Amino acid sequence: MLIDVQCLPTSLAPNHLSNRAVVVVDVLRATSVMVYALSEGAKEIIPVRTVEEAFQMAKAFPPNSTLLGGEMKSSKIEGFDLGNSPKEYEAGKVRGKRLILATTNGTKAFHLISSAPHILVGSFFNIGATTQRCLALNKDLLVFPSGNNGNFSLEDTVCGGMLIDQIVKKRKMDVVLTDASHSAYILYQRFEANLVEAFRLSRHGKELIDLGQGDDLPFCGQVDITDIVPIYKNGVIGASS
Ligand code: MLT
Repeated sequence: MLIDVQCLPTSLAPNHLSNRAVVVVDVLRATSVMVYALSEGAKEIIPVRTVEEAFQMAKAFPPNSTLLGGEMKSSKIEGFDLGNSPKEYEAGKVRGKRLILATTNGTKAFHLISSAPHILVGSFFNIGATTQRCLALNKDLLVFPSGNNGNFSLEDTVCGGMLIDQIVKKRKMDVVLTDASHSAYILYQRFEANLVEAFRLSRHGKELIDLGQGDDLPFCGQVDITDIVPIYKNGVIGASS
């Protein structure tokens, strides 16, 4: 199994993805929201690239069946039902609902790799279950950090490194790491004992703290609180366990 990490969130050609599994990660906070909302019973999630697309798409669904969630500059979008803190997506609000999510990086990431045959939604919340799914798929793996406005993301790469650490520990042999995945693996080992320290050092972590949303850092740093592994297919993310 060859494991690679896409350091910068750029669009990848179908032939680069055709025989791989891809794990999309946006720890702060889009994929954490997706995993948490589905674990709280949300029906499905549609990640869109723009706010306009979200409002347009919502018109296609029956009233009260769909909620709009997401952020712009890490703040709730006017006219949306929910922001982008996973804590907002509790069962009482999202159970049985379809969610249309628009965020700066995380929701766009899925559109950059949408031709891949297997697309998993990763976070620290479901890292163990995601590891198991990757091992079961037994495909070469690409970890796709969503980044920060096209830039390298420390927290997403640390999460990728944890996934690699768990796969290496469980598979023991014939795991081939590229320089990028080796670097993510080493970065994870540096922050293994204190994931939130990496979040606090990260550019986006600091932005959230400055905006008074710092308590999302320890929340998003929780490990294995669910065993669902959401799958992206034909534009929709659904829970699979
Ligand atoms: C993103 O998609 O860019 C992040 O999830 C933004 C955020 O939640 O602050």
